[in-house]
Amino acid sequence: MAGNKVWAENGSVMILALAKKNFANGKTNRHAMHDIGAANSTLLLEAASLDIYGHMMGGFHFNETLEAFDLDNNEWEPACFIVIGYLDAPDKLEEPFKSRELAPRSRKSVNEIKEKL
Ligand SMILES: Cc1cc2nc3c(=O)[nH]c(=O)nc-3n(C[C@H](O)[C@H](O)[C@H](O)COP(=O)(O)O)c2cc1C
Repeated sequence: MAGNKVWAENGSVMILALAKKNFANGKTNRHAMHDIGAANSTLLLEAASLDIYGHMMGGFHFNETLEAFDLDNNEWEPACFIVIGYLDAPDKLEEPFKSRELAPRSRKSVNEIKEKL
């Protein structure tokens, strides 16, 4: 999608992460989306250990993706695209991406999460 072009255009590799919805025996894999998420995270950790980085993107055109890759949605679930590349200077980015990239990352405290349970 438009907001992701800045990442997609400048990466070296683009991956389409697909969850396989059924096992070989035809039974539904209820954990397919969990599995692809875990695989993606592991891939990015391994990449980071080699000083290579990835940006996952759930913002993509779903139906166009199925069509472009000739995918049967009964079999495959497009989860996200991942652009992979080497780090560059955030200063080169235009707004609003530059401010987002340079902003300090914030995380909720454990207590804040507990309060919502
Ligand atoms: C499944 C998933 C989908 C995402 N979709 C998008 C997206 O469409 N566009 C985007 O800019 N960031 C998206 N993000 C967030 C970025 O991939 C990244 O995690 C976030 O910008 C934090 O970056 P940081 O690791 O540098 O803090 C998504 C993250 C995940 C896990």
